[in-house]
Amino acid sequence: MKLFAFAGARRVASTNRTLLGIAAALAERHGATVDVAELRDFDIPLYDGDLEATSGIPAGVRQLAERIAAADGFLLASPEYNFSVPGVLKNAIDWLSRTKPMPLRGKRALLLSASPSLVGGNRGLWALRVPLEVLGVHVFPDMYSLALAHEKLDASGVNDPALAKFLDKLVERFVGEVRAHASAG
Ligand code: FNR
Repeated sequence: MKLFAFAGARRVASTNRTLLGIAAALAERHGATVDVAELRDFDIPLYDGDLEATSGIPAGVRQLAERIAAADGFLLASPEYNFSVPGVLKNAIDWLSRTKPMPLRGKRALLLSASPSLVGGNRGLWALRVPLEVLGVHVFPDMYSLALAHEKLDASGVNDPALAKFLDKLVERFVGEVRAHASAG
């Protein structure tokens, strides 16, 4: 069973990219094969209907779509920007929604967030559910939002044992659901 993993953040020191790496390692420990990608590695211009009409889907979007299509589900860690979805991620989703076949449809997704705030970016994940669900993604009901991420993440991973255990159990349940769906299909 294969998962794709990416973060809605581009910066090198991103706490969301760190959290994604931890979740991806846990998913592998629970038996998944995980293809971890960097959003910045895909050359994705700002969505422009004229560009689409004249040049079609940009190569970077097609590459991202192919990587998603090759997986049974995906892990997505995203910062919360102004209580919502970062523009770079929403832009990528908007382009993906224009590809045919549309790779997000029918995929299982686990959403994660990290933030220095006490809410952990969770409001951004609720906003992120809207475009994903309208595109036919089965977003896992439970999500993981790490508050005070600048304190809770270090070289050991999530350094709060209870929060680390919660993440492990959540990833295990998600991997189990994707595996059950993949084998049923
Ligand atoms: C933020 N940040 C932020 N944090 C939060 O908890 N709620 C919010 O609404 C926002 N809004 C916001 C807007 C913009 C434009 C920026 C740049 C930042 C702070 C954000 O959570 C923090 O910078 C995280 O560290 C970003 O995630 P990465 O880059 O560490 O993954």
